[in-house]
Amino acid sequence: MENLKIGIAGLGRLGKIHAKNIAFRIPGACLTAACSIVPAELDFAKNELGVTDLYTDFDDMLAKADIDAVAIVTTSGVHCEQLSKALAAGKHVFCEKPLGVNVEECLEAEKAVADHPDLVFMLGFMRRFDPSYVYAMEKIKAGEIGEPYLVKAVGVDPVKSVEGALRFAATSGGLFIDMAIHDIDLMRWFLNDEPETVYAIGSSYGFPQFAELGDAEAGCALFHFKKGGMGIVHTGRTAAHGYHIETEIVGTKGSIRISPIPEKNLALLYNEHGVVTECVEAFPERFAEAYLAEVAEFVDCVRTGRKPDVLVQDGTASTRIAFAATESFKTGKLVEIK
Ligand SMILES: NC(=O)c1ccc[n+]([C@@H]2O[C@H](COP(=O)([O-])OP(=O)(O)OC[C@H]3O[C@@H](n4cnc5c(N)ncnc54)[C@H](O)[C@@H]3O)[C@@H](O)[C@H]2O)c1
Repeated sequence: MENLKIGIAGLGRLGKIHAKNIAFRIPGACLTAACSIVPAELDFAKNELGVTDLYTDFDDMLAKADIDAVAIVTTSGVHCEQLSKALAAGKHVFCEKPLGVNVEECLEAEKAVADHPDLVFMLGFMRRFDPSYVYAMEKIKAGEIGEPYLVKAVGVDPVKSVEGALRFAATSGGLFIDMAIHDIDLMRWFLNDEPETVYAIGSSYGFPQFAELGDAEAGCALFHFKKGGMGIVHTGRTAAHGYHIETEIVGTKGSIRISPIPEKNLALLYNEHGVVTECVEAFPERFAEAYLAEVAEFVDCVRTGRKPDVLVQDGTASTRIAFAATESFKTGKLVEIK
């Protein structure tokens, strides 16, 4: 098969990463078109990536560009509409998380995917492609921790980027929808089960502005799974030391901890401050390999006629659960996840 021709929509913080990977680093793929509503980002595509087929309108790209597939890395609120249009236009679709910003539109996206069984649709839950998480899953499947029954997750953004978090807080859907969605997906993946209830709390400590916007600076959610398993998520926006993503899976015969110290690399610095290991700074650095691997998997699925493991239904389920956590945080009550 010839190289898969991909058009990318969205060239912001994450779009640029995916665009560079598709243009230069993924075998069997080429970046032939790009779309952004920000003209400066199209200059980036032209000057840095050599893409000349450029659009400011998504529908235009679908109608005119010579592409087999679309990578959707736009603002979350337009994912569902764009993926449905792309599938209707006969394009394979890779779509960033979250699938949608409410459960109703996720269900419509599920229908659009079901209506096009000949096309590949993959959702970007990239942590499932991170080497450490892949390793953890392999160990679990090999029975090395027995039967997993608890997932504890920490996902806290660096305080360094709190200004941006405050700017987007009003439209982000809130802490549990915006931040905890990856941890929710991982809990479902590792426990191979769905939660039936959630109780969530949250508050604002150093940054009362989050509370004024009806959101929280930090939150905790406790999930009870159908087969009896448990999940605990601590999520927040103001880690002093950097980008703290940590996951522990506890089983009947052992446990696995992924990045309890979210170190930048294996070097230790010995100086007047003691023995210091720097923290990883932000998502592009921590998950660089995962972003590459997930799109490589999408391309391989299309080229070999396989279906990806991360399904549109995973997007709906995680959105539904994140909304239930948000409802619990807002009402102070245990919420049943329907
Ligand atoms: N998987 C992850 O770890 C991860 C990390 C960051 C962001 N994301 C997701 O990726 C998406 C993009 O996030 P970001 O941080 O790059 O955002 P961003 O605001 O930096 O960029 C958004 C991009 O979307 C484009 N855009 C918006 N509406 C558009 C439209 N109607 N048509 C064409 N282009 C449009 C903008 O021009 C811009 O290029 C979000 O859905 C976000 O949740 C995922």
